[in-house]
Amino acid sequence: MKRLRAGIIGLGVGERHIEGYQRHPGCEVAAICDFNAETLRRVEALYPNISRTTHAEEILQDPSIDVVSIASYDNYHFEQIEMGLKHDKHLFVEKPICLYDWQLARIRELSKAKPHLRISSNLILRRSPRFMQLRQMIAASDFGHLYYMEADYEYGRLEKITQGWRGQIEYYSAILGGAVHMIDLLLWLSRDTVTEVSAWGNRIASKNSAFRFHDFVVCLLKFNSGLLAKVTTNLGCVKPHFHGLKIFGTDATFENGPAHANLYKSRLAETSPEQLTASYPGVPKDELVYNFIQSIRAEAPAVVDVEDVFKTMSVCLAAERSLSQSKAMAVTYY
Ligand SMILES: NC(=O)c1ccc[n+]([C@@H]2O[C@H](COP(=O)([O-])OP(=O)(O)OC[C@H]3O[C@@H](n4cnc5c(N)ncnc54)[C@H](O)[C@@H]3O)[C@@H](O)[C@H]2O)c1
Repeated sequence: MKRLRAGIIGLGVGERHIEGYQRHPGCEVAAICDFNAETLRRVEALYPNISRTTHAEEILQDPSIDVVSIASYDNYHFEQIEMGLKHDKHLFVEKPICLYDWQLARIRELSKAKPHLRISSNLILRRSPRFMQLRQMIAASDFGHLYYMEADYEYGRLEKITQGWRGQIEYYSAILGGAVHMIDLLLWLSRDTVTEVSAWGNRIASKNSAFRFHDFVVCLLKFNSGLLAKVTTNLGCVKPHFHGLKIFGTDATFENGPAHANLYKSRLAETSPEQLTASYPGVPKDELVYNFIQSIRAEAPAVVDVEDVFKTMSVCLAAERSLSQSKAMAVTYY
């Protein structure tokens, strides 16, 4: 079978995608793109046999390329997806795949017209060994009935929003840039559906900077089963990057920590929680790239399949609407 030829646009986290494609025996990296010539030169020196360009459309329109990683700034994702689908590419898109409801609706329409083309997104927490173990325990009913979850995206990198592209593009969304990981994680862990969302935000942590958008957002999620959740994006927190997670069920409670997670199965103070030591985050940024190629080759679902991408984005966009209109929003599923 012919090897799939991949192209990568944007060589920040996108540089990490190169290894994911190259590790797969059924794939080769044909081209890389960055509109910053210096970045392109630096990466080119590491991979001299890969062709390079500063123009994304040269990759998106190249008939010899089958798969494209879109790892450009958030504001370019939509136009690059549109062009990629038009030119029959499978697309592995960094989160968020787009910024607005109308864009997601359009991507859905284009994707439905070409169902043989796959779309996935780098929602990497699904491959964290600790969260994979947690999901298995939930599926095995170890938690009884879930009734509340808390997920906190603690970014710990204030400088990335006060300096650099996140503060300079037309719109940077804390929900789509950060909470998207946690919302996806909760949907995947609970296998439930969010029906309604409320969100509030502020901009206190980055107040005296050029960053113009919310740097802290809290969302409340109501699920079909009655399960409730709170999700925060905390871009300015004074602590290192961390994914806070608490899962409350009728029979057990999970609490994530940097070194290990605690699993409580008793309400008694003298009973120590069990320590879950499976690694966290414990997953390289290219893991889902490899899986994406595997899923195309095997014609099997990817870990983050197209329906997962649309579900997670739909919940995030309902939260965006709630944030801007200051009222609870029903989720519209695209
Ligand atoms: N899945 C994850 O865990 C994860 C982690 C980091 C970043 N991201 C996402 O990846 C994307 C890039 O973020 P980053 O942290 O790598 O940023 P970055 O600034 O480190 O790198 C982005 C690179 O892409 C280039 N670029 C941007 N737009 C381009 C375009 N239209 N054409 C060609 N080159 C372009 C820039 O010159 C830069 O070199 C964002 O959407 C971000 O949300 C995802």
